[in-house]
Amino acid sequence: KVNGLQFAVADLSLAAFGRKEIQLAEHEMPGLMAIRAEYGPSKPLRGARIAGSLHMTIQTAVLIETLVELGAEVRWVSCNIFSTQDHAAAAVVVGPHGTVEAPAGTSVFAWKGETLEEYWWCTDQLFGFEPNTIVDDGGDATVLVHMGVEFETAGVVPEPTAEDSEDYRLALRTLSKSLATDPQRFTRLAEQIRGVTEETTAGVNRLYRLAKEGTLLFPAINVNDSVTKSKFDNKYGIRHSLADGINRATDVMLGGKLAVVCGYGDVGKGAAESLRGQGARVVVTEIDPICALQASMEGMEVVLLEDVVHKADLFITTTGNFGIITADHMSQMKHNAIVGNVGHFDNEIDMAGLTTTPGIRRIPIKPQVDEWAFPDGHSIIVLSEGRLLNLGNATGHPSFVMSNSFTNQTIAQLELYTKPGEYAREVYTLPKHLDEKVAHLHLKALGVKLTKLTKAQAEYIGVDTAGPYKPDHYRY
Ligand code: NAI
Repeated sequence: KVNGLQFAVADLSLAAFGRKEIQLAEHEMPGLMAIRAEYGPSKPLRGARIAGSLHMTIQTAVLIETLVELGAEVRWVSCNIFSTQDHAAAAVVVGPHGTVEAPAGTSVFAWKGETLEEYWWCTDQLFGFEPNTIVDDGGDATVLVHMGVEFETAGVVPEPTAEDSEDYRLALRTLSKSLATDPQRFTRLAEQIRGVTEETTAGVNRLYRLAKEGTLLFPAINVNDSVTKSKFDNKYGIRHSLADGINRATDVMLGGKLAVVCGYGDVGKGAAESLRGQGARVVVTEIDPICALQASMEGMEVVLLEDVVHKADLFITTTGNFGIITADHMSQMKHNAIVGNVGHFDNEIDMAGLTTTPGIRRIPIKPQVDEWAFPDGHSIIVLSEGRLLNLGNATGHPSFVMSNSFTNQTIAQLELYTKPGEYAREVYTLPKHLDEKVAHLHLKALGVKLTKLTKAQAEYIGVDTAGPYKPDHYRY
């Protein structure tokens, strides 16, 4: 705690560098800057205490400072142990008007290369300032509150079993400490939380499951499924940051190589385009006939992993599912095949299998790049220990696309905080006119000239001249 501000970051002296990059990012984030201009003077988020669990990057710094400019008090952690950019975290703590000696910004608990134990400690710190809304990415903060309430009601935290992941065991440990010191902590918090705005596919899947079971404790806005989020960030963001991550990690020539993209949803489509853009020969695996047909129409072969595992040079998982690449698959790969994941969680690649199978050795090359040597003499290269490689090995998506995502986040926070009682304990998406507004805010920067619909044309296609221009079922 310095100057009354609580924080835990790697190195505050990186703040000046972080500030310069934040200023560059602001120029590339016209949506967030327009929201600041529109709502900054009236401070509609005054009284909001926002707990954010989302990759602590430069782009997120611009989001945090937008929420602050709208009147909110904010506390932040990263939702991934490798995704924090330490200069961004330092700059947010110091703030635009503070100094390293007297930081005057926002509480951040995040650094690049946290252990899992530190990760759950940081996440727990989020709830130390009695938040009344959550910004989540992947659902860890939301799920911790839900588990906390469940165990507080039962009066006991269950013992972990042998099958539980280390991640889950550490979450349980965090909750048992909390239960011992304050047995009603999460129950109280859940009552005051006006809702959560969720960033990603993995997190919204968790929310819909809670809502279906009838156990969702507060309203939720699914930011991911705003068209201006998932059809841009997931796709064009990955198109940029996947190749960036692989290049920074390995510097391997991608042209001519055989690359397998597992999953052809929004992220898979961006991943395939990214690799094809580098001249790789891309093949796809899918379970969904529609996505498989889409890949095929784009000219990519849709294959079984088993049929290409011995001959591909690069494997990228994008499914949001688990157990996609097993230790057995990796044992059959070519020497120095590269294996990486850009789906939210680290169980798409069987890291546990690599670690526990006798005879397989880990040889660290540099942070977030490991060689895994098999007894037969071949090795593979695993990026970011199977976690999001575009954030672990590079710096994630670029500012412009994140401006679309984070403008949706900010609008969703405004909805939940300023309209208490209007949302039930369900999962909502933002209405289409707001989705169109987010797009609008990004057109000018690209010099886009939008054709104006005449009144007669609008009537002919059955829409208002001011939009929305498409029905809700339109798929883009
Ligand atoms: P999506 O649902 O659009 O795509 C996933 C695809 O994987 C689906 O088409 C599904 O049919 C397929 N799939 C599922 N199981 C499979 C299996 N066993 N084999 C092959 N294919 C399988 O989801 P989206 O939006 O593409 O997100 C995917 C993951 O990426 C999620 O975990 C999401 O949270 C994460 N994400 C990561 C980002 C990053 O920066 N790295 C950005 C945005 C999302």
